[in-house]
This record gives sequence, structure tokens and C-alpha cells, in this order.
Amino acid sequence: MIDGCQMRFLVTGGAGFIGSHLCDYLIDEGHTVDVLDDLSTGSMENVAQLERNDRFRCTVGSVDDDEVVDALVREADVVVHLAAAVGVKLVVDSPVRAIETNVHCTEVVLAHADSHGRPVLIASTSEVYGKSNALPFREDGDLQMGATDKSRWAYACSKAIDEFLAMAYWRERGLPVTVVRLFNTVGPRQTGSYGMVVPTLVGQALAGEPLTVYGDGRQMRCFCHVADVVQALAGLIYDERARGNVFNVGATAEISMLDLARRIIAATGSSSEICLTTYADAYGEGFEDMYRRIPDITKVHALIGWSPTRSLEDVIRDVVAYHRSVNPAPEIPALG
Ligand SMILES: NC(=O)c1ccc[n+]([C@@H]2O[C@H](COP(=O)([O-])OP(=O)(O)OC[C@H]3O[C@@H](n4cnc5c(N)ncnc54)[C@H](O)[C@@H]3O)[C@@H](O)[C@H]2O)c1
Repeated sequence: MIDGCQMRFLVTGGAGFIGSHLCDYLIDEGHTVDVLDDLSTGSMENVAQLERNDRFRCTVGSVDDDEVVDALVREADVVVHLAAAVGVKLVVDSPVRAIETNVHCTEVVLAHADSHGRPVLIASTSEVYGKSNALPFREDGDLQMGATDKSRWAYACSKAIDEFLAMAYWRERGLPVTVVRLFNTVGPRQTGSYGMVVPTLVGQALAGEPLTVYGDGRQMRCFCHVADVVQALAGLIYDERARGNVFNVGATAEISMLDLARRIIAATGSSSEICLTTYADAYGEGFEDMYRRIPDITKVHALIGWSPTRSLEDVIRDVVAYHRSVNPAPEIPALG
């Protein structure tokens, strides 16, 4: 694939949070984009800005529909597979749907990409590192999952199966596949409905409600701006040397959930308080969480020179601005 060459992309899950930003980028770059999305967690509003562009087309349907996927993959030059059941809450609440969506849809995409010889980028997740303590996480490190009676691990295991299958297609059939393990990605258009922490806390702060922080709030995460993540995805899609490889993509600056909540309260001028709540109340008994999760991004940096350029302040500012734009009232009084 040559930089500057105009191509047709199939983006599954392209009406979702990350997918819609990737579509904006690809259209800006002069490419043609086909989206296949069932709108289960995505929405047409996310791609409303592209609807009048004659290089953009959105098919509402499921990635488990062989016939539709076959036709779209045949037309595409490159496939980016982002469609998935995403979010801890959604996975804990609907584990059957999560496992079936994440495993079966990836099977369908890889099978059709293979039969038409199309390069594929598969979105995986930092969740696959599970309970590993080998920080920062390296792509060649061991994965450490929890027991199968804890639904939380279903997301990680289903994505790990996707990775194994992708690597099997690469080794056995020579299908050009790149796997990207995304860490916490945040920005405009992400919704808090499925357990995503930043939009949830921002929504609570703007509504003047208590900010709910799980556990003791000392668990740490690294948040990467979606605009940075899109740059990494694009760089890896264009680079043939990425094929047959797994890459971590994420920010490396850590913050605790308590400090995150405090930063959001300060950024919104909210008078909300922070309310600690147990994991059991949020997700049911037996929920396991990890205290820290940091990516080692040496590999992606060495190949395409990528590292995040936006700070947590940028992330919070853009998420707050987005929430205010889609839900302008009620405005809360400033402190002091
Ligand atoms: N946001 C993050 O922090 C994060 C972190 C790690 C990995 N990821 C991965 O990135 C990808 C995109 O996630 P996102 O954050 O944009 O979530 P999202 O929920 O906004 O996007 C997923 C999209 O897939 C669509 N979809 C789900 N099942 C489908 C099906 N069967 N057929 C067609 N479309 C379907 C949804 O409607 C949605 O538009 C996912 O594969 C996810 O696992 C995201």
C-alpha cells in the first residue's frame, strides 16, 4: 500500500466512537469509506458529518451477515475491523452477546478477507493482558486471565481468540493481518452508557451529580486521545511491515480514578462530590479489576514513530466540550 494512493476502506463498527473518528480521517485523506455497523452501540449521529460525502457509504447491518460482508470486502482495498461488543458493563450484563459478537464477527471478517486477499487490521484490547503484573505490558508478554465463572474475562478471552485467529490466518494462509491492542481511548462521541469512565464522570460533573468512583479509587489508568489513536491506526494500516504483528497503542501517563474525578470536577467547575462505590454494587459480586495497566509502546514507536501528542488535559477539555455541545442544559453554577 502506498501513502498518498486513494483506496476504498471497509470499516466495521465505523459508526462507533473510534470508528467514526477513523472515517473522518480517511475521508479527509481522500479515501473512499464503506461502513458496516448494526448501530448496537454506535449511532448515525457519529457519522452525520460524512453522510453527504459521495465517498462515504454506511450499511446498517451485522458483521455476522456473510453475504453482506462478502460483497463489501470484495469491493474494498483494505478492511479495518472495529465492530465489537465493547465496554465492561455491556460484557458483564450480556456475556453471550459479547462473546458471540467478538468471536464470530472476527471469524467472518477474516474468512472473507482471506477469500478476497484483502489486508485487515483487527482491533484488540489491553484487556487481553488480564491480571498480568509485568508492567509496562509488552506485546510478547504472557496473558493472565481470570476464572471462567467471572464474566469480566469473557471480553478479554474473546479478543484473545480473535488475535490467535488473525495470527493463524497470517501464518497458515499468508493473509496480511495487523492486530492493534488499544488501551483506554477517550474523546468526543464516546458514551458513558456502557461503563466508560471518562464520559460517565464528565456527564455526572456537568449534571451536578456525585461522581461515582469504583473501589478505593486508587486504581490507575492511562487515557489516550482518540485523535492520537487514529494516527496510530492509520500509520499501521499504511505500513506493510506491520503485517503479522501485534501492537500496543495507548498513552503511558498514569492517573488514579480519584485524581481523574478531581481533575474533571476542576475542569467543569462542578460542585459535585466524589462518591466511592463498591465493584459489587456496580458489576455484581466477584468482579475483579486490575490496579494498573500501562502499555509499552516501543514497538509501534520504532515502526511508525508514533507516540501520543495530546495530554489528559486535552482529553478532558475535548470530552467536556463535546458533552456541552450535545447536552447544553442544565449549566451548573461555577464554584466560589
Ligand atoms: N474505546 C476504548 O477504550 C477501546 C479500548 C480497547 C479496545 N477497543 C476496541 O476498539 C473497537 C472500537 O471500540 P469503540 O470504543 O469505538 O466502541 P463502540 O461501541 O463505539 O464501537 C463498536 C461499534 O461496533 C458496532 N457493532 C457491534 N456489534 C456489531 C455487529 N455485530 N455488526 C456490526 N456492527 C457492530 C457498534 O454499533 C459500534 O458502532 C472495538 O473493537 C473495541 O474492542 C476500544
